[in-house]
Amino acid sequence: MAKIYVTRKIPGKAMEELLNNHDHEVRVSQFDRPLTAEEFIENAKGSDAVLTLLTDKIDGEVIDALGPQLKIVSNYAVGFDNINVSQVTEKGVVVTNTPSDEVNESVAEHAWSLILAISRRVVESDEAVRGGAYFGWEPDIFLGDNLFGKTLGIVGLGRIGTMMASKAAGFNMKVLYNKRSRDEEAEQKYGMEFAELDDLYARSDYLSLHVPLTPETRHMINKNSINKMKHGIYIINTARGAVIDEHDLAGALRDGHVKGAAIDVFDNEPYVNPEFISMENIILTPHIASATVEAREKMTSQAVGSILAVLSGNKPQEIVNEEVWGKRRN
Ligand code: GLV
Ligand code: GLV
Repeated sequence: MAKIYVTRKIPGKAMEELLNNHDHEVRVSQFDRPLTAEEFIENAKGSDAVLTLLTDKIDGEVIDALGPQLKIVSNYAVGFDNINVSQVTEKGVVVTNTPSDEVNESVAEHAWSLILAISRRVVESDEAVRGGAYFGWEPDIFLGDNLFGKTLGIVGLGRIGTMMASKAAGFNMKVLYNKRSRDEEAEQKYGMEFAELDDLYARSDYLSLHVPLTPETRHMINKNSINKMKHGIYIINTARGAVIDEHDLAGALRDGHVKGAAIDVFDNEPYVNPEFISMENIILTPHIASATVEAREKMTSQAVGSILAVLSGNKPQEIVNEEVWGKRRN
């Protein structure tokens, strides 16, 4: 009977089924909050499998503390920057994540909702109406910007960035993208153009970030890169907060170089830079880009499915450290 530890209660049928199926000993954290590092180790020690969230930090030391029987870290997220993958791989432990059409669509749809909401000042004007500041139709209140004919710059063309691109034609936008290697098939399919970063910054009216957080992408949006951007650009971030230098973004929002920003992720979550709080030209959502019923259902079934696969000796579908498979722990 294998031991499975889940670091936080998660929604979805697959979790209920796992709890009702008594083949394995499954324990779910009783805290309705992220665990501290100590709590995590104390509770997960001795497990054969752990289901982790992006709020759990996992490295080689943590793996050692959990014991030599641990076989898989199943991360309940697309991103896995909370895990030191090379250290975990060295220990022979499998790492999986949860990308799927449902999740990728959900994130791309949220990014589009943020583009529309910031351009048309949806949040700001809703607040005005609720605050009693609606006195009838006026010719010049809450003027926004059309998307029609504008240029969308997509930084990072993975599965989510590609879904983002696929929806731009409906708004008659021109699409530029940047990724490490050109994707000519996607260019053809979505009628978009590859651009070097500086060129993309200079030509985009809307910038949407879809890169993973790596040493290279950390704070890539900063004073320096913003200075290369078009005056009046809008910046959307549904990737990872640390891709943006928040203090530099706040400065550019204040001086108008960046006209508006809409961000779902923060550098040091759940801390929110106080500079943002009183600004009207930024929309802040609490890391909910993948928060749809469909996406969470799918994430749970993938995360649980990966654990069950590894425990029965089968290779899971979404393996992050492919190279570990041949030298994984038994
Ligand atoms: C959420 O941010 C994820 O990576 O799934
Ligand atoms: C922000 O809401 C703007 O339109 O500047």
